[in-house]
Parts: sequence; C-alpha cells; structure tokens
Amino acid sequence: MVTVERADTQDAAELSAVAAVTFPLACPPGSTAEDIAAFVADVLSPESFSRYLTDPTRTVLKAVDGDRIIGYSLLHAAEPADPDVAAAVTVRPVLELSKMYVLPGHHGNGVSAALMAATVEIARGDGVAAVWLGVNQENLRAQRFYGKQGFEVVGVKTFLVGTQLHSDFVMQRDL
Ligand SMILES: CC(C)(COP(=O)(O)OP(=O)(O)OC[C@H]1O[C@@H](n2cnc3c(N)ncnc32)[C@H](O)[C@@H]1OP(=O)(O)O)[C@@H](O)C(=O)NCCC(=O)NCCS
Repeated sequence: MVTVERADTQDAAELSAVAAVTFPLACPPGSTAEDIAAFVADVLSPESFSRYLTDPTRTVLKAVDGDRIIGYSLLHAAEPADPDVAAAVTVRPVLELSKMYVLPGHHGNGVSAALMAATVEIARGDGVAAVWLGVNQENLRAQRFYGKQGFEVVGVKTFLVGTQLHSDFVMQRDL
C-alpha cells in the first residue's frame, strides 16, 4: 500500500536519489546529460534536500511503498519571485508546487494523484487562494496530469537547467 506523508531530514539522501532518477524524465529531448547533471548536483543533492526539509516555507511530501520512497512533491509558500509568474498568477496568496516526481513503474496508478491530494490539503490548510506550477512545454504527460487535476495554463516562463534555458507553461489551480 502506498502512503503519503511529510518527509523529514532523515529522508534527504533517498529523496535526492529519487530526484536524480526522475528529473531527467521531465526534461525535453534536446537536454544534454551535462546540463541535467549540473542541475541535479546543484538543486537536487542530499544537501539541497536537507535545506528544503528545514526551510519553514517549504514542505516535502513523500509517497512511500513499503519502506521505499517512490515519489515526492515539494511545496513552497512564497510570493512568486519570477516576474513572469507574478504577472501570470493573479490571485494571492499562492503556493508553488515546485516539484512533483514519481518513479517510473509507479506512473498511472494513483500515486501522483495521492501526492496531489495531500498537496492541495496542505494548501487549503494554509489558506492560499491557488496553487501554481511550472511545467516544460514539451512535457505532455505532466501537462495532461495537471489538467486532470484542475490546473489551467495561465502564462509562460523560462527555467534554467545547467546552461540551457527551457520554456515552461505556468499552470494554476484555484482552491
Ligand atoms: C508527471 C507525473 C507526476 C504524473 O503522474 P502519472 O502517474 O504519470 O499521471 P497519470 O497517469 O494520472 O496522468 C498522466 C496522463 O498523461 C497521459 N500521457 C502519458 N504519456 C503521454 C504523452 N507522451 N503525451 C500525452 N499524454 C501522455 C496518460 O495517458 C495520462 O492520461 P490519461 O489518464 O487520460 O490516460 C509522472 O508522470 C512523473 O513523475 N513524470 C516524470 C517527472 C515529471 O515530469 N514531473 C513533472 C515535472 S513538472
């Protein structure tokens, strides 16, 4: 049975390992191994997760199957720093669904929906008006998933992976 719960600092290394496997799945075909590796080392390392797990503005949720983490989401409660996002997302306060990743082998079976349900529950508890996220414009599977979950495209932004600037859609779900 898969459960979703808040991660803690002891999960940093395992979350980083899941992130390293799943992040490349969200990147467009033109991404280079070097750029992906640089992003993973910089943003998805165990040290990075240790920081996220102790940051009061961030929440990391883990999906657990038995004793293994098979997916995670990262929520960030903050005013959007990117001006493109700040302009596209018109309601406040908002929470960013900053990361949403499930291991291959567990797609299409409700794990992602359970992570999203827990994310939305936290957002509602925080009293935010909407959840927003960025998704690569070529990541059709994730866009389809977010669409099923009630998100709509409200704008575009860029996202730096290593040396490459990727094109994202900004999606928003009002609560
Ligand atoms: C994005 C993610 C969390 C969604 O979870 P999931 O379990 O795959 O989601 P679901 O199966 O419920 O929904 C995906 C939908 O996309 C569809 N899909 C799959 N591949 C597709 C493709 N290449 N193009 C269009 N749609 C596609 C599926 O058929 C499904 O739609 P359906 O339910 O109408 O059949 C998961 O796929 C994942 O972790 N992907 C890798 C990392 C990633 O991209 N994260 C998001 C970063 S923004």
